[in-house]
Amino acid sequence: MNILLLGSGGREHALAWKMTQSHHCDELYIAPGNPGTAILGTNIALNMLDFATVKAFCIENNISIVVVGPEEPLVKGITDYLMDPATGAWKGFVVGPSANAAQLEGSKAFSKQFMQRHGIPTAAYAEFTAANYEEGKRYIAQHSLPVVLKADGLAAGKGVVIAETHDAALQCFEDMILHQQFGAASSKVVIEQFLTGIEVSVFVLTNGVDYQIIGHAKDYKRIGEGDTGLNTGGMGCVTPVPFIDDVFMQKVEARIIQPTIDGIAKEGLVYNGFVFFGLMNVQGEPFVIEYNCRMGDPETEVVMPRLQTDLVSMFAAMDNGTLADVNINYHEGAFATVMAVSGGYPGDYAKGKTMQIGDTGSSILFHAGTALKENTLVTNGGRVIAVTSKGNSIPEAVNTSAKALENIQFEGMYYRKDIGYEFTN
Ligand code: AMP
Ligand code: GLY
Repeated sequence: MNILLLGSGGREHALAWKMTQSHHCDELYIAPGNPGTAILGTNIALNMLDFATVKAFCIENNISIVVVGPEEPLVKGITDYLMDPATGAWKGFVVGPSANAAQLEGSKAFSKQFMQRHGIPTAAYAEFTAANYEEGKRYIAQHSLPVVLKADGLAAGKGVVIAETHDAALQCFEDMILHQQFGAASSKVVIEQFLTGIEVSVFVLTNGVDYQIIGHAKDYKRIGEGDTGLNTGGMGCVTPVPFIDDVFMQKVEARIIQPTIDGIAKEGLVYNGFVFFGLMNVQGEPFVIEYNCRMGDPETEVVMPRLQTDLVSMFAAMDNGTLADVNINYHEGAFATVMAVSGGYPGDYAKGKTMQIGDTGSSILFHAGTALKENTLVTNGGRVIAVTSKGNSIPEAVNTSAKALENIQFEGMYYRKDIGYEFTN
C-alpha cells in the first residue's frame, strides 16, 4: 500500500518510523515532512490545507491510506473532502475523523456537551458568549479558585488559562470575549472547575464502532525543571506510567473510552482515527480534561516505539471492519523521550542554528523542528529534536536519552534533565 502522511513534526517522524516497519507499507510520502522523515520516505511540498491538491496527489500516486497528523486539517474537513466522491473518485481510506467528529477537539463546548450527554466524568462547567457576558461575570465571581477558562475553538495550545484570582479570571474573560484575544476561537468561552491530580494521556484507534488502546504516556508540559515556568507543546514523555495499573485502566475503559466510542456511534459521527484522551487522575478516579482527534506530540515519540503491533495492519483492519480482532502487543521495558528545544522557547527564539549530531548510541532521534540548509542540518522550530530511548526502567531510559543529548549540539539548545522525575525506580 502507498501511504501519504500529513504533517512535519516529531509526531509525524515517529509515525513514519513505525509505518515503514510494516511490510504493508510500499511507498511512503510525507507532506511536507522534515529532514528526519526524508530518510524514511519521500517528502512532498504539499499544503495540507489545500484539500484539492492533496486529493489530486492521492489519485495520481495510487495512495491507499492518508494519515493526518495534526488537528487543523481535520477540524477544517480534510477527511470529508477526501472521502467525498463529488470532489473526485478516490478509493482510499483516511486515518482521521470527519469535521463533525473532530469537534471533540475543535470545540471545547462541543466536547463538554458530548461528555454530559454520555455521562463521561469531566470537570463541572458552563459556557458563555457575548450574549450572556454579564451572567458569565457573575458565574466567575462566585466560582471556586483556581478557575479554568478555555477558548472554545483551536488556539494553537494557548487557549487555556488557569486563573488564581477572580480579578485575573474576569480580565481573561474580558480579553477572550470582548477583545477577541483568540479571534473567533474565543467568542465562546468554557469556564470550568479546576481538577487537582496527575495528568496522563491514553491513546486509542477507532473506526467509530470498535476501538483498541495503543498506549498511554505522561507528558511534561512546562519549560522548567520541577514542572515550573511556561507551558510548551511538551518537553518530554514517558511510558508506561507506573500508576496506570489495571484497576485505573479498567475505570478509564468502562467510564471513559467505551462511553465515548458508544457516543460517537450513537450520534452517527464518522470517526476513523486516533483518539487522544487527556485525563486527570484525581485520587485514582479518571476525569477527561480534553479530547484530541489525533496523536500527541511528543507522546507519539514514546507510544510508537513501545507498540509492537503493526500500525499499518491496524489501519487496514479499521477499514475492513476487523479492528476488534487485532491483538495489541507492547515491547517490554520503559520508553522515554526528551525534547531539545531552541533557546527562548516557548517565547521568541531563533531558527537556522547549525546542528551537530554525534554518536547517539541506541537512542532514536525524531526530528521535530529541523531543516536542511545547503545540506547542513539546522534548527527550524521551537521544539527541535526528540531523543527517545528504551530502558529496563524509566530512569534508565531517561539516562540513555541524556547521554545521547550530550552529543547533540546547537546554539541555545535546552532540554529538561528531570523528565520522569517522579518515577525513581
Ligand atoms: P487543554 O488544552 O484542555 O488540554 O488544557 C491545557 C492544560 O491545562 C491541560 O493539559 C491541563 O494541564 C490544564 N487544564 C485544563 N483543564 C483543567 C482543569 N479542569 N483542571 C486542571 N487543569 C486543567
Ligand atoms: N503534547 C500535547 C499534545 O500533543 O497536544
